[in-house]
Formats: sequence, C-alpha cells, structure tokens
Amino acid sequence: MSIRGIGLCVAAAALLPAADLATQKPTFTETIAPIVYRNCVTCHRPGEAAPFSLITYEDVKKRGAIIAAVTKSRYMPPWHAAHDYGEFADERRLSDPQIASIAAWVSQGMPQGDPAKMPKLPQFPEGWHLGTPDLVLEMPAAFGLPASGPDIYRNFVIPTHLAEDKWVRAVEFRPSARKVVHHALFAYVDGGALAKIDGADGRPGFGGMGSIGVSPGRGSSGSLGGWAVGATPVFLAQGLALPLPKGSDFVLQMHFHLTGKPETEKSVVGIYFADHAPERRLVAVQVPALFGFGAGIDVPAGEKNYTVEDSLTLPVDTIAYAASAHAHYVAKEMKATATLPDGTTQPLLWIPDWDFNWQDRYTYKAAVALPKGTRIDVRLRYDNSAENPRNPSTPPKRVQWGEQSFDEMGSVTVQMVAAHQEDEAALQQMVAQRTRAAIAKGVQDGTARRYQAQQAARPGAGQ
Ligand code: HEC
Repeated sequence: MSIRGIGLCVAAAALLPAADLATQKPTFTETIAPIVYRNCVTCHRPGEAAPFSLITYEDVKKRGAIIAAVTKSRYMPPWHAAHDYGEFADERRLSDPQIASIAAWVSQGMPQGDPAKMPKLPQFPEGWHLGTPDLVLEMPAAFGLPASGPDIYRNFVIPTHLAEDKWVRAVEFRPSARKVVHHALFAYVDGGALAKIDGADGRPGFGGMGSIGVSPGRGSSGSLGGWAVGATPVFLAQGLALPLPKGSDFVLQMHFHLTGKPETEKSVVGIYFADHAPERRLVAVQVPALFGFGAGIDVPAGEKNYTVEDSLTLPVDTIAYAASAHAHYVAKEMKATATLPDGTTQPLLWIPDWDFNWQDRYTYKAAVALPKGTRIDVRLRYDNSAENPRNPSTPPKRVQWGEQSFDEMGSVTVQMVAAHQEDEAALQQMVAQRTRAAIAKGVQDGTARRYQAQQAARPGAGQ
C-alpha cells in the first residue's frame, strides 16, 4: 500500500470548532458506521472489488488503525482526480470532520456505543449497481487464464439477438475473476462480422487489442464505453445514449494481468437502454489522439520527469460531460485544461498521482460549455525512475508506446457533444482527422511497426 499522508488529520482537526473536538466521543454505531456505510461498503462487502468487508463492528475495529491511516492520507475512498480541479458528480471523498472523527474514534479505543443506534446497512440490489438491466449478456464460454505470463488482451463476441435498434445509457460489467481483469472496453460490431476469427485458435474469443477501440472497421461498429478496476458504473448524462443497432454482436475486450494463480473468467454484462434516440451524438475527444499512438512516447530508463504535451482547438461550440484518463504504470500525472476564447481557463481533469488500478470516468457535476475556439491543453508526465514505486521494471527500462502494461500510452479523453445540431459533422471530422494524423505519425516513427511485431509475437493473437 502507498499511503500518501500529508497531515490532513491535523488540518481537519483545526477546522473543527474547539468545543466539538474536546467533547467529541465518537462511537461506532452513532458516528463511524454511518460514515463507513455511506462511503466504503459499496466496495467493501462480499463479492465486490475490495479485499475485505467493512460491515460489522468487528470488521471495522479489527482494521481501525489502517482505516484511520488510509482515510487520513485520502488513499480511501479511492478517488484520483484532484479535488478542486473541475467539479465532479459522485466524488468519493470524506469531509475533514469525518476523517477527524475516525481518527478520534480509533485513538479513543474504538468504543462500540449503543447497538440499538446501529444504522441499517444500505440495500444493494442483487449485484447490479444500476438496477435491473434491460438486457443481460454473458460470455458464451469461460476463458481460462494461466498463472503467469505476459498480459493478455482478449476479445469476446456475444450476440445480442436484438430485433430492433437500441440506444444504450449504461453498460454494467461484472467480471467473475475480479483480481485478474484490469480493464474492459465495450463495443458493437455487425452480427457475425467476427465469426471467422472468434475461436479460431481453439479458445473462446480472439486475441489482440487492435480490433475494437483503436480501429473501428468491420462494417458498422462503435464504442460503448469501458470499465476499469474500481470503476462504478454510471448512466450517461441525461438525454445521452450510444447506438446499439439491431442484430449487433457485443464485443468485450478485456485486459488481463495475471496474478500467479490460474483463473477462469466468464463475465456478465448488463445493458440499460434509453427510450429513444438522443438528440446529439456523444463524441470522445482524445488528447493526444489514439492513446498517444502518434505522440512519440519514448521514456528513457531512469527519467523522472518525461512530459508529453498536446493541444487542440475546438472547431465548434461544444458541451463536455465527462473526462477520463488512460495510461499504464510509469505515468505519474495527467492534466487537461481548457482555455476559452475569452482567455478564461476551465479545469477539465487533473490526476496528480496516476494509479493504473483506478481508471475512473469523471462526470462533471454540471455540463461544461466549451465554445468554438476553446483550446484544450493536455500534459502527461511520466516517471521512469526507480523511485516510482509503480515502475514495473527493476531496474527501469526504456519505455515506448505499446499495449503491454510494461509499455506506455497516455491520453485524456473528454466526452462531449456539439452544442448545435448542424455542427455535429465538423466535430466528428476533427476527431477522425486527428486519428488519421496520429496513425500517420506512428507509421513514420516506427510505433506502428513495433505494434505489429508485438501483435504477431503474441501467442493466439488471432490476427
Ligand atoms: C470504489 C471502491 C472502494 C471504496 C468506495 C472504498 N474502498 Fe477501500 N479498497 C478498495 C480496493 C479495491 C482495495 C484494495 C486495493 C487497494 O488497496 O487499492 C481497498 C483497500 C482498502 C484498505 C486496505 C489498504 C491496504 O493497502 O492494506 C483499507 C483499509 C480500505 N480500503 C478502507 C476503506 C475505507 C475506510 C473506505 C471508506 C471510507 C473505503 N476503503 C472505500 C476499494 C474501495
């Protein structure tokens, strides 16, 4: 564990009225359980991502000291966007007084208090965070994973059998072997489009990460979002939805990082539909494009402060709904800022201490208007020194763009729509043009060649 304590507890105590502090006698049932039930048990309960439950007095008492430490350092609840850089919905964050109460409770011997005052455990609907899905899809066959080896990228094709076109408001992903699944991308393709390669190597699905998410192709296809460790599924903002045409196959592209123990994965996916088509298409604007494929990422071994910068200027008035970041282990910091035509700046996303395991999507509390001419600047910083505790290589090795966890990539993605119907095409064209330019650059600087060689070398790559 990396606890990044910065004396927040002392600061928190200073914020409390002195009288409160002197008299504060927190008990589990009255003070601590409400905090934990509200902020921790979504993950810390049986069957969820966290390694232990925090439900009973005993559960919490047993880990009192570490709970005080990880809340003080704000390592828990996990939330990696800087608190005051953009305003996000559902921010996972304890208040300073809550942190101080936990600290006081632990230092006072963790009294239980009156059992009659114990709050009710929140009700979690049968496994699904978002309620009963409209469509539940399951991988047709389980996929066996070895105990060790390089990371595996595998695509699984699940027929939807949809008789009519649908619009997707959310996809909820439930992996069966949570410890090995690092992230998943969702997409659709024309029904049967992948039949030739699906299972061609004698195992369910097919290898590679290139076929969805990176290059669309294969008739009609499109992204349906993604999931990463610790991410909580959410609905798209009001009125937004992604297309899922009738007869499509759903494609689940998963990234497995092996754990030292054989595992079996058979994911289930819940899909939530909108009643009607959205007024505007949601466009993913990536800076740099294609996860930095054309950004020339080449981090020397030992380099502590390698930066990649990219900018774009919006060709039309837009409205931004959410931002997310993606990179691997050597990335340290990602920051996206918009500068409006009037010179004012608008924070979009700042992840000061990037952690590969927490690739959340950050939805703005209120949609952000970014008018035509707004410049979006993104700065990515990588630390490839031995002092970076997340560096996968000891000693550090030169790191270039690639899909293995030991390679790097990086970008910030802003989900937006054109503010005016007539501008939709211009916004989409900008994204397509940036993608083409990134591919051309990656071809020129050898990234494409390295990528293809990696693909060919992987057993069961399929294509
Ligand atoms: C979004 C899911 C999520 C929420 C919410 C959450 N946790 Fe965690 N927690 C995890 C996961 C996953 C781990 C294990 C991986 C890790 O340490 O990052 C973890 C680990 C921990 C650990 C062990 C740290 C260590 O390294 O030994 C403690 C203690 C903890 N959480 C306490 C809490 C407390 C207290 C809260 C609420 C204030 C909370 N967590 C909220 C997901 C969550």
